[in-house]
Amino acid sequence: MKAVRFHSYGGPEVLKIEEVEMPEPGPGQVRIAVKAAGINPIDWKLRAGYMHEMMPLALPAGSGFDASGVIDAIGEGVSGVSVGDAVFGKGHHTMAEYAILQEWAAKPDGLSHEEAAGFAVAIETAARIIDQVGVKPGQALLVSGAAGGVGSAVIQLAKAAGIRTIGTASEPKHAYLRSLGALPTTYGPGLSERVAALAPEGVHAALDIAGSGVIPELVAITGDPSRVLSIADLSAPQYGAKTSFEPTESTKALADAAALFTAGSFTLPVEKAFPLDRIADAHELSAQGRVTGRLIVTIG
Ligand SMILES: NC(=O)c1ccc[n+]([C@@H]2O[C@H](COP(=O)([O-])OP(=O)(O)OC[C@H]3O[C@@H](n4cnc5c(N)ncnc54)[C@H](OP(=O)(O)O)[C@@H]3O)[C@@H](O)[C@H]2O)c1
Repeated sequence: MKAVRFHSYGGPEVLKIEEVEMPEPGPGQVRIAVKAAGINPIDWKLRAGYMHEMMPLALPAGSGFDASGVIDAIGEGVSGVSVGDAVFGKGHHTMAEYAILQEWAAKPDGLSHEEAAGFAVAIETAARIIDQVGVKPGQALLVSGAAGGVGSAVIQLAKAAGIRTIGTASEPKHAYLRSLGALPTTYGPGLSERVAALAPEGVHAALDIAGSGVIPELVAITGDPSRVLSIADLSAPQYGAKTSFEPTESTKALADAAALFTAGSFTLPVEKAFPLDRIADAHELSAQGRVTGRLIVTIG
């Protein structure tokens, strides 16, 4: 089968499409014929070697952590699914014609494989950090970096849980944030004042998704560093804020989001879909940091 691989850390040009052995599903896993796979910032961070201390890779390495497709092999101990079922979920080396998923949910009929391909990492991350930052129904949550994959999922999962969000993005994306259910505002100087005007009663907690050096300001806005959590800024603990880097089991979160999609309350729009042979362009666009919603690669 064809798979994206790289033999050394480097720029997008190290990405190759190669013939490799089909992966076999282990206990608790399924193999899918991949229809589409999601691009996440971690894909180009790993490829460039930025993460080699935190997550060293055995080279040559594959790429990709989420996908949507059709089950074609089932590992030991898996129940509730059959060969031929359409699913989306989390796995490793999903940028390939076939991939192993560790966690998955049934793909709703009305959801395309292209959109579903971008669901799993964003949903797992969003559900985890809403939980870990400790915000409850009826409270307000500030989301710094709200228009990308994770931020879009946070806004909608928070709304479904009765949590109000204020999200930061550049002005042209404010209508998009509003459509997902957030009160939008711009990032940059004066954030505290803008948030105070939008939420005079204050915000209970804040998430730093963009990793843009705003932790001290988020601590000042919430008034308590333990109610600030970052997924992208390693300096956060210096200010007493939390970080979250370890994925948690996401089967329920994926199924819940699929049900929200069916109810018309969840979507992760695909900004751009690339064919597999343009994987390098997909990495480059993701690395520019301006994606609205998700980028995906169509494969099958
Ligand atoms: N720790 C974890 O478990 C974990 C999990 C998933 C992702 N992450 C990390 O979280 C980050 C976000 O991931 P993602 O998938 O959401 O990325 P993404 O989809 O590429 O996010 C792009 C968005 O970020 C916004 N943005 C850029 N600079 C900003 C700023 N200064 N303030 C506010 N928004 C800004 C952009 O909006 P504008 O164009 O309007 O600026 C754009 O819409 C990445 O660094 C990723 O590696 C960590």
